[in-house]
Amino acid sequence: MATTSEDSSPFGGEDGWNGSTGRHWVEHEDRHDRMLTSLTTRLIQAADISAADRVLDVGCGCGETSRIAARNAPEGEVLGVDISEPILARARARAQQEGLSNLRFQRADAESVPLPKAHFDLAMSRFGVMFFNDPRAAFRNIAQALKPGGRLAFLCWQEALQNEHIVVPFSVLASYGALPDIGAPGAPGPFSLADPDRIRELLTQAGCGDIEIRPAQERLRVGSDVPDVLDYFRHHPAASGIVGGMDEATLSKALHDLEAAVRPFQTPDGVFLGSSAWLVTAGR
Ligand SMILES: C[S@@+](CC[C@H](N)C(=O)[O-])C[C@H]1O[C@@H](n2cnc3c(N)ncnc32)[C@H](O)[C@@H]1O
Repeated sequence: MATTSEDSSPFGGEDGWNGSTGRHWVEHEDRHDRMLTSLTTRLIQAADISAADRVLDVGCGCGETSRIAARNAPEGEVLGVDISEPILARARARAQQEGLSNLRFQRADAESVPLPKAHFDLAMSRFGVMFFNDPRAAFRNIAQALKPGGRLAFLCWQEALQNEHIVVPFSVLASYGALPDIGAPGAPGPFSLADPDRIRELLTQAGCGDIEIRPAQERLRVGSDVPDVLDYFRHHPAASGIVGGMDEATLSKALHDLEAAVRPFQTPDGVFLGSSAWLVTAGR
């Protein structure tokens, strides 16, 4: 089940993704797609989609990876599943613009949605599998929807401290007295699958084998210039708990410090910060 309104984390599930976190995700769709370009390429290579594949995209967001899968599987079908209605509205609009008739979306919690058994050739996800309340149930549910011999391919983040795009902005904000809201240890959040042993354990109990967990390190283009990136971080869901409590003078000082921290990463092509993900593949 998704989390309830009692869970104040912006990444806790139903409320955050259907509320301000979801709005943030839609507003910054193009930024995120561009930011993740090189990681997306790695995921799609690992997913190795064939023309007739049936593909499940878990936590599909605004649907960039679903659309790529649909283009790569013109004789197959793609189902994007996501818990957030505002995000899916964007995904549906984009797929319609492209006229992708083999792609559909379903609003559902991937943890509990009744998926057809042994139906899909591939389940994939670009950073959409770290937000489950019950990851055991979720990975079991996803794995049983794969045909025997079907594949799983997903990206998830390594530890926050290995991710410059988190460390640079949030160490500044944390110096103002509060930690960013990125999920408590073991709770749903961007870093809940940072431990490869945990990934291996979850996938094994779900009935997967041939598990490979490879590091994927890329520089992310977070924005065009320093003011753009500052505005992005300032309104980031994980920052709202810190920034929201600041008076005007403190906020102005924090933004000044943030600007100084981000400036060294400006290049003629934009502001780039490092990232470390896991690229996970497995078979059923
Ligand atoms: C970090 S975003 C990634 C979105 C997309 N895969 C992308 O790369 O742009 C995480 C996505 O997972 C979705 N999500 C969170 N919990 C979920 C759940 N239990 N079931 C299905 N989707 C979920 C969110 O609504 C959000 O769209």
